[in-house]
Amino acid sequence: MEFIASYKLRKILVSKNKIELAENFLEIIEESLLNVKDRNITIALSGGSTPKDLFQIIAKDYSAKLDWNRVNFFWGDERCVSPNNDESNYKMVNESLLKPLNIAEENIFRIKGEVNPDEEKNNYQKLIAEKVYLENNIPCFDIMLLGMGEDGHTASIFPNQIELFNSNNYCEVAVHPDSDQKRITLTGRVLNNSKVIIFLVTGKSKSSVVAEILKKSDESKKYPASLVKNENGKLIWLLDKDSASLL
Ligand code: 6PG
Repeated sequence: MEFIASYKLRKILVSKNKIELAENFLEIIEESLLNVKDRNITIALSGGSTPKDLFQIIAKDYSAKLDWNRVNFFWGDERCVSPNNDESNYKMVNESLLKPLNIAEENIFRIKGEVNPDEEKNNYQKLIAEKVYLENNIPCFDIMLLGMGEDGHTASIFPNQIELFNSNNYCEVAVHPDSDQKRITLTGRVLNNSKVIIFLVTGKSKSSVVAEILKKSDESKKYPASLVKNENGKLIWLLDKDSASLL
């Protein structure tokens, strides 16, 4: 694990391969489990293809490494589709991680993509306010795993709807700019209130946006991912050599 730089509470970890990425991610979960003794930890997961490899490695080789029974699983965003649709973030996480680890139903709090989006936005908002530890009277996830698109979106907050990031709500209904697919997404109020935020970003195609954001260029302000700050804890960028190649 190559440690590039630490700015304030921001860390940038560049892994040489997927195994090392998985081990970095697990170390963060392990630390969270050690820091929190009186309850389960809460982790909000992102969708997309990047975390899928990570989850499969963890489920295959690291199932015994952690007390997974002490982890409650949530989502940072979800596509408004049924849970058995290949587009579903729940389906991806369930098949690559939750089922192989035998996670109990009572530890899984999915966004119901099959429900009317405006209704589910309110439902999930109520759910996280009830099930997630509050800090500053806002749900405070112990770990927030975020991905980043090549356009600098994160969760389901896209550049053409960047105002959703600063919504007063904990959840909003977003629309994918190309597919017009509706999404439910957590907003910046919750993302930035997390104890530990992890940006898991790999691949050359994202290297320029990663560099712009980490170097805080003026250009980067248009990217929703640039609005993610470590107001309440740590912000860790888990990168690979390709995505870190312009740093
Ligand atoms: C989603 C994700 C989204 C994802 C990025 C990166 O629902 O698609 O939550 O924010 O993290 O689009 O996706 P990849 O890992 O597939 O590049």
